Amino acid sequence: MNTTLSGKAKLAGVMGWPIGHSLSPRLHGYWLRQYAVDGAYVPLAVRREDFAGTVRMLPRLGFAGANVTVPHKEAALAAVDEAAGEARRIGAVNTIVVRADGSLMGWNSDGFGFMESLKAGLPEWNPGLGPAVVLGAGGAARAVCAALVDGGVPELRLVNRTASRAEALAADIGGPIEVVSWAERESALDGARLLTNTTTLGMAGNPPLDLVLERLPPEAAVTDIVYAPLRTPLLVAAAARGNPTVDGLGMLLHQARPGFAAWFGVEPEVTDEMRAFVLQGMESQD
Ligand code: ATR
Repeated sequence: MNTTLSGKAKLAGVMGWPIGHSLSPRLHGYWLRQYAVDGAYVPLAVRREDFAGTVRMLPRLGFAGANVTVPHKEAALAAVDEAAGEARRIGAVNTIVVRADGSLMGWNSDGFGFMESLKAGLPEWNPGLGPAVVLGAGGAARAVCAALVDGGVPELRLVNRTASRAEALAADIGGPIEVVSWAERESALDGARLLTNTTTLGMAGNPPLDLVLERLPPEAAVTDIVYAPLRTPLLVAAAARGNPTVDGLGMLLHQARPGFAAWFGVEPEVTDEMRAFVLQGMESQD
């Protein structure tokens, strides 16, 4: 995005495989241009078997750090010299910062991104208002649950098709998490103030989430971490019955903030214009 780099340009990127559909270069590129930073953020296509060796090259190449995405987030936790508490708890690193001595510090900003996106979209909501229902128990669910527990949610009903995965998540994250079976997902909506989908259901190419919202209170906030499509069938159904909704793009945008600030020295802002720019990039993909 910045075509006038100097020899002192700061460097960062995103390591993943495949990486061609990542929106991170576009969103960091937007900020680099907006804040006129002498820096670059590039896609780094790194195969699974090469990750541990390649991540060690970041300091040697003078990189300020990198984001890490599928399938490397768990390997990144093992590869860094030090991991922040939230990354250890979640079991994954999505942001690496190269420290002055060349060592690697790992963070996980997914939970931060989730909470900041909710706060921005629904300023009147806070986790303390009442029970939250989280669907799914994968990596994204771990970040979401940790953020909700740390934010003071009084009760978290965790619903997953595979109960053992939900039990493991509850044991690792701690706090007021109650595991609910997939069959009971509709009764779990009674009295809830937040419903979040972290499963892949509703994503383009996947079946929609099979969930009747009848028992969900009308004031409950509904969020989906799926952002392709932006308006998932869950969000469409929730909005149609008057529930406030927040789409999944905000989490992607807000999770990028801590890395950008650490690598490039500017606290970036998520704006409507930036959102529109990133959305345009999604629409022009195949
Ligand atoms: P991520 O790390 O991105 O969260 P993941 O680890 O693949 O992705 O998790 C996907 C989530 O979607 C899981 O909770 C998965 O349920 P299981 O733990 O039972 O596999 C859920 N999921 C995927 N397909 C599903 C389906 N057809 N019905 C119910 N849940 C499904």
